[in-house]
Parts: sequence; C-alpha cells; structure tokens
Amino acid sequence: MARNNDGRPLGYILVSPSKLFSQKLKKAKSEWKPLSERRKLDSAIWNNNFIYLDQVGVLFEYHKSGLAYDLLKTLEADNVGKMIVTLIMDKPIDNVRSKQFFARNGYKIFCTVLFSQYGTIKNFEGSLLYKWIV
Ligand SMILES: CC(C)(COP(=O)(O)OP(=O)(O)OC[C@H]1O[C@@H](n2cnc3c(N)ncnc32)[C@H](O)[C@@H]1OP(=O)(O)O)[C@@H](O)C(=O)NCCC(=O)NCCS
Repeated sequence: MARNNDGRPLGYILVSPSKLFSQKLKKAKSEWKPLSERRKLDSAIWNNNFIYLDQVGVLFEYHKSGLAYDLLKTLEADNVGKMIVTLIMDKPIDNVRSKQFFARNGYKIFCTVLFSQYGTIKNFEGSLLYKWIV
C-alpha cells in the first residue's frame, strides 16, 4: 500500500495465494499460445510455483505518475528468481491501460482464458500474463 504523508492510501498491489488461483484456472477454458516456454510455464502454474498478482490500482489522479510502476518494482524486487502471473480482463471490459502497463513492464501473454463465471462476472475472458523475475 502506498500512502501520502497524511496516511491517505494512494495505491496498492495485492498478491493472493497461487494455489487458490490455480484451482480457479482448472475450471477455465484456456487457449494456449504456441509458446516455446509452454512446458516450463505449465509446470510452474500447476505446481503453484509462482506469485499471483491479483490486483494493482492507484487513485485516478495518480495515474501516469509512476506510482503503479514503483509498486510493481517493489513486488518484483521481493521476488527475484520467481515467476509473477496476473490475469487481465479482455471481456466484458477490455482493460487496455492495464495491458499497456504490464506490456511496458515486460509481461507477456501466456494464454487467454474463458470463465463461464468469475466472481460476479459471467463469460469472463482474460489474458494470463507472466514474467520471470531475474
Ligand atoms: C493499471 C494502472 C495501475 C496503471 O497505472 P499507470 O499510472 O498507467 O502506470 P505507471 O505508474 O507505470 O505510469 C506510467 C506513466 O507515467 C509516466 N511517469 C511519470 N513519472 C514517472 C516515473 N517517475 N516513473 C515511471 N513512470 C512515470 C510514464 O511516462 C508513463 O506515461 P505514459 O503512459 O504516457 O507512457 C492504472 O491504470 C490503474 O490503477 N487502473 C485501475 C485499476 C486496474 O485496472 N488495475 C489492473 C487490473 S487489477
């Protein structure tokens, strides 16, 4: 969590247990990209050998300030040698800013996934992104 001098929250990054996310993923239909790294990635996902970045968000007035970048870099610095995975919504809302943010920071598409129900959202389509932190 990032706060200003008065303690007001300005932005946050949330990591959730990878095991819970893998369980959800088992219920999804996945369309795999023809990735050369596929086997290594599959193994990391199914063995819960990754960090699941559930959410990142900053107040609207702090967009394009570099705060989200700082939050992400702090998480990455704490997880050298590991893989970070995140899921970005494509439908019903195309989260373009978020995709640009992760692409800019070196995250690649692992596969696209389709959930008939994801939380409260029906027919959720998303892109599963990954980055090995070196
Ligand atoms: C996704 C989200 C976190 C991205 O935030 P962001 O502000 O675009 O990301 P950054 O912190 O990397 O900011 C980068 C921009 O700030 C600029 N910037 C200014 N000062 C900077 C600094 N010191 N360091 C880095 N970038 C800086 C960059 O030039 C860049 O501008 P550009 O987009 O015109 O190239 C933000 O859009 C958000 O909170 N969205 C709502 C929640 C959401 O959808 N989260 C994702 C799914 S959980």
